[in-house]
Formats: sequence, C-alpha cells, structure tokens
Amino acid sequence: MNDAAKFSPLAARKSGVLKGRVTAPGDKSVSHRALILGALTVGETKITGLLEAEDVLNTAEAMRRLGADVVHRGEGEWRVHGVGVGGFREPPDVLDFGNSGTGVRLTMGAVATVPITTIFTGDASLRRRPMRRVLDPLSLFGAVAESREGGFLPVTLKGARTPFPIEHRLQVASAQVKSALLLAALNVPGRSTIIERAATRDHTERMIKAFGGTIAVEPLPDGASAIHVTGEAEFKPTPIAVPSDPSSAAFPLVAALIVPGSDITITSVMLNPRRIGLIETLKEMGADITITNVRDNGGEGIGDLVVRHSALRGTDVPPERAPTMIDEYPVLAVAAAFAQGRTTMRGLEELRVKESDRLAAVAAGLKANGVRVVESSDGMIVEGQGADGVLGGGDVLTHMDHRIAMSFLVMGLASRNRVRVDDGSMIATSFPNFQDLMGGIGAAIARSDR
Ligand code: S3P
Repeated sequence: MNDAAKFSPLAARKSGVLKGRVTAPGDKSVSHRALILGALTVGETKITGLLEAEDVLNTAEAMRRLGADVVHRGEGEWRVHGVGVGGFREPPDVLDFGNSGTGVRLTMGAVATVPITTIFTGDASLRRRPMRRVLDPLSLFGAVAESREGGFLPVTLKGARTPFPIEHRLQVASAQVKSALLLAALNVPGRSTIIERAATRDHTERMIKAFGGTIAVEPLPDGASAIHVTGEAEFKPTPIAVPSDPSSAAFPLVAALIVPGSDITITSVMLNPRRIGLIETLKEMGADITITNVRDNGGEGIGDLVVRHSALRGTDVPPERAPTMIDEYPVLAVAAAFAQGRTTMRGLEELRVKESDRLAAVAAGLKANGVRVVESSDGMIVEGQGADGVLGGGDVLTHMDHRIAMSFLVMGLASRNRVRVDDGSMIATSFPNFQDLMGGIGAAIARSDR
C-alpha cells in the first residue's frame, strides 16, 4: 500500500463525561530495548507486555534479520533467543524501521562495533530526520557510515572490525544517541564513557544492568553524569515485564482533565522519574491527579493515576524539565489551550526534529482551532482560552506524526466544534488501540471522510 492509500482522517467531537479504568499500552522505549538486548543475549529472554505497535514490530523484524530468533507467543508475550554480544550476522537486505527514530538509531549502535555491513531506511518522516547525531559519535569506535547528503537515511553502516573504547560528551540531549553509544560499547574491549549533561531516560542503563552488564554512573563536578560501560559483555537472559507507557497514558490523562465531569483511572503507568515531567507540570497547573497503588515492576516503579476534570491555570514550564516530558509537549499544549492564562514552553529545539516539526505542527493546529499561540525557534507561548473557550472546528495536518494526531483528537473532545485530523493511521506506530480505549471511556472519535 502506498502512503496515500493508508490515509485515515478522524474527527473528535465534544464528549460527555469520561469514566472508567484503562490501561495504556506497553512502553515504547522499553519495548525496543527489550528486543535489542534480548537479541544480544544467548538463551531465552521472556518479554511480557511488549508494545505490539508498528515501530516495535519493525525492531523485532530487524533483530530477526540480524540473526536472533524472535517469536510471538500471545498478546504482549514474546520470546527472544539472541546471538550474544558481537554475534549479529549481516542482514541479507535493507532494514526498514518505518517511522521509528528509536528503532533505527539504537540498532545503528548495536551493529556499529560488529564487522558487518547494514543498510537502514525508513518512511518519509524518518528519512527527513537527522542521523549524523548518532553516526558521527559511532565513527569514534571505528564504524564507517555513508548517508544521503545532510546525514539522512538511507544509511549504509560498516561496523568496526577492531573497535576502540571511546570517551564522548553528548552534543544533544538525546536518550537515543546515548543508548546507541552504550549498545555499541558493549562489543568493545575495555571501558567506554558517555557523558550527558541533561538527564535523559535511562532505560538502556537499567536494562544493561538487569542483564548482568557492567555499567556505572558517576556524577561529575559540572553537574553532568559520566556513564561507564565495560565491553565484551556476556548477558544472562532476564525476563522483562514492560510497564505501561506514560507517553501514551498522557492522552486519556489530558482528555479527562479537559472534559467536564470526567473521572478515570489509568492503571500500571510507568513512573520512572525521567519520564513524568508531564504529570508534574499538569499538577502545577492545578490538575487533580492522584497516584495510587505504587509498586515495583521489574526495576521500574509503576502506579495507577486517578484523574478528574480540573480547572487548569497557565504555567511557565522550566526548560530543564524538557527531557522528562519531551514527547508530551503537543498534548501539554492542548491542556494549556483549556487553561486560564498563558503557558510558556522553552528549550524545545529538539521538537523540530521529531516525527514532524512538532513546534510548527502544534502551533498550526492550535491556530486552526482558534487558539492564540506564539511560536519561537525553541518554544511556544499558548494563550489559554479557559475551560469552555476553545472554538475547534479546525482541520489539522499531522505530517505523519502519531502524537500530533492523538493530541488534536483529545482537543476535539472538549472544544465547541469538532476537530478533524487529516490522518490517524500513524497512531498505529505507538498506540494501536487508541480509538477503542478512548471510546471505552466515552470519547467520541470516529472516521471522518469528507
Ligand atoms: C526515546 C527518546 C526520545 C523520545 C523518543 C524515544 C528513546 O528521543 O523522543 O520518542 O526511547 O530513547 P531523543 O532521545 O532523541 O530525545
């Protein structure tokens, strides 16, 4: 099917109260990593709760083509028989990662220190995203990459035959780049050090430790952290229970806050401190969110979120919080539109290189629905319209971005007129049951062909 044939316009209408209990799908970041680390482990890795969405399924297929045995056993249940660190074989064809920056960048890291040649590509959105941020530091290990002009996919990566350990300070606050380098370092003799200033999500570090790898984090005097990882690791299989994705939970969460009378519970949400900046921000805006039943889920804290409709106030989001909610700004902007007063978001230049230019896409979507917004090079200021003040009625261009689609569908649940998005098909990349789950709590979202 070509991209145009898959277009699936959706519209959301003002809904009655949202009520019920829902469980968001498995965490995307943890799902990618579970498959990749499982593929680097000899023996059987059992995974439960895996996110069965297009992005993750592409990573599963890539691991198969690199030689791992990846088997689907039942809903969310997978088994990986890996090849061991350094054991990948050259894939017979191009690896296509579809829409997934995480899948492609982490896999680039995992093959960069193995003496094989791998060719990577992706969909139109992924082919516009920067790859130099990961290819340049991977070259320090001795890997050699050829890309399209500007560092874009397709990319051919020749893994280093005799890789050297590196010490590298990250140039962008990116868990994907950090993780790629950590995965590459696993097959290098000696100790590599990756230094990060901003604390980005640490699922790779936690999982390397859980599989028995040697990894340590050292705080540096300038506030940065040095992550030391020792190579030629021999992983032991460890069962992985994937917790629910806070970035997906964000959609029913904001929907319940803005639809009058709503009262929902979102169960088993991952509460990793590096992922919950949205909850913190919404609470500062006056959101009624109670976290209950906090427990451990294989090394990650999880809890249930009880969310009730709330009168929100605008806020100034500290830029240093960005890494802990980097994927949540589109839906935060929707919450801000229903608040009283102004919400300021800064330090967000990274949003320009996500699945779409999210600053531009959000600003255009807000304007199309009667919300005043000022976009700057690294942020935006949203003028809250109050609980019943968002006009809606707009048509939103999603630019192949799942989170733009879901955010504006959430907006339509509480705006005066319906909100339509040009394409909801990309939602399947991260949240395949979005429409059903939202419908189950009372959200009016339906296909909307002209
Ligand atoms: C991810 C890291 C983030 C995030 C992405 C998933 C990961 O990207 O936006 O959706 O799993 O490591 P960056 O690390 O590039 O900021």
